[in-house]
Amino acid sequence: MGFSKWVWLIFILHGFLELPISANPSLSPEELAQIPVDFLDFAKKPELFDWMVGIRRRIHENPELGFEEFDTSKLIREELDQMGISYKYPFAQTGVVGSIGTGSPPFVAIRADMDALPMQESVEWEHKSKVPGKMHACGHDAHVAMLLGAAKILQEHRHEFQGTVVLVFQPAEEGGGGAKKMLEEGALENIDAIFGLHVSAAYPIGAVASRSGPLLAASGFFEAVISGKGGHAAIPQHTVDPILAASNVIVSLQHLVSREADPLDSQVVTVAKFEGGGAFNVIPDSVTIGGTFRAFSKESFIQLKQRIEEVITKQASVQRCNATVTFNEKEKPFIPVTINDQDLHKYFQKVTGDMLGSQKIIEMQPLMGAEDFSFYSEVIPGYFFYIGMKNETQGQFERGHSPFFRINEDVLPYGAALHASLAIRYLLEKQLQPNPPKGSFHHDEL
Ligand SMILES: *[C@@H]1O[C@H](CO)[C@@H](O)[C@H](O)[C@H]1NC(C)=O
Ligand SMILES: *[C@@H]1O[C@H](CO)[C@@H](O)[C@H](O)[C@H]1NC(C)=O
Repeated sequence: MGFSKWVWLIFILHGFLELPISANPSLSPEELAQIPVDFLDFAKKPELFDWMVGIRRRIHENPELGFEEFDTSKLIREELDQMGISYKYPFAQTGVVGSIGTGSPPFVAIRADMDALPMQESVEWEHKSKVPGKMHACGHDAHVAMLLGAAKILQEHRHEFQGTVVLVFQPAEEGGGGAKKMLEEGALENIDAIFGLHVSAAYPIGAVASRSGPLLAASGFFEAVISGKGGHAAIPQHTVDPILAASNVIVSLQHLVSREADPLDSQVVTVAKFEGGGAFNVIPDSVTIGGTFRAFSKESFIQLKQRIEEVITKQASVQRCNATVTFNEKEKPFIPVTINDQDLHKYFQKVTGDMLGSQKIIEMQPLMGAEDFSFYSEVIPGYFFYIGMKNETQGQFERGHSPFFRINEDVLPYGAALHASLAIRYLLEKQLQPNPPKGSFHHDEL
């Protein structure tokens, strides 16, 4: 680059950022734009691709549930050891936090979840789950492999940036609130920004999807025991029937969304569990029901929680039953709304656009699903996005939590390269711009 170009670049940056440039930027915008392209090429090379596929399959064969990811955690630590990457362990039982770079600020984090689901795999293939009743049906095996792939790319380039990339391998995303525990145990201190991704069969391979602002809902679970008085099914006058009371409770709960919520403020109340009775001719003593509720704001969420409790207890009493409602927050913490930082959204569009082309960035509608990544993005500017893996020539890819869920392993290089590019460009651009705007979006605490 000639002298006049440097002057031009510094002038542009100075004018644009309105900040004094303390050190000459070492990379031109063109060179910065080339990084994601090079990383993707590298991640697709057999040496890195096959290695990631191997890791993903090993984890897939040995799925572990939340806070029990002992072997998965060990595998991650062994791979980090082999790469010469230092880490801290354990956080939240099995969590691992690696770091690459100078060990000094700025800090940018990239995150993967490690846990599997309590369900039986129905896909017949060579690397099927070897643990009955447990399965990686949400892609966390691929998430771990992609984060390790990113670690490999970043470790190779560790002398080319100032600052530190923090690798966050967390337990228990599936309802256990692993992210909350990681934060409570101080795994993510002084982090300037955090990125997380999720594989998706809804979008094509080579595409990404996300949005600025609220992306995923807040989520909570409830359980209620409705107790009456059991007895002979043909002599109901001597009983207090909890089956009928529970049925009315479920119908009444439907009014919360249809009659009490603003139709433009999306909410869900679902009763997914109903347990009571065992015989055709015996009215049981009690019925247990349970379900989930979702909302897109803290206020609506708290309102729903309060009304669920009232409706269950009061409606049960109409049929002379007693009800107790629990939200079991200790085991299944309420998950906050996942809100993407506005500035990071623009940054994400720039980096992924450089890698994939802007036509591969899909603007998403918000979803009622929840993601415990929101615990991080509640306290750190955060960005969560989906990475497509649909490829029609490879057949149908089922959505997450299906026993037929499959990963299109072609997605692994994209995830690794995106993680690595988002992290390294963040640090490089921060060198050019010492005080970028932080966390522009207002984050509610839940
Ligand atoms: C409900 O609770 C009240 C007060 O504890 C008790 O007197 C009553 O017997 C209970 N009813 C049923 C159906 O369990
Ligand atoms: C889709 O799958 C086919 C068959 O494996 C492959 O040849 C093709 O490259 C894939 N498409 C993309 C975009 O990866």
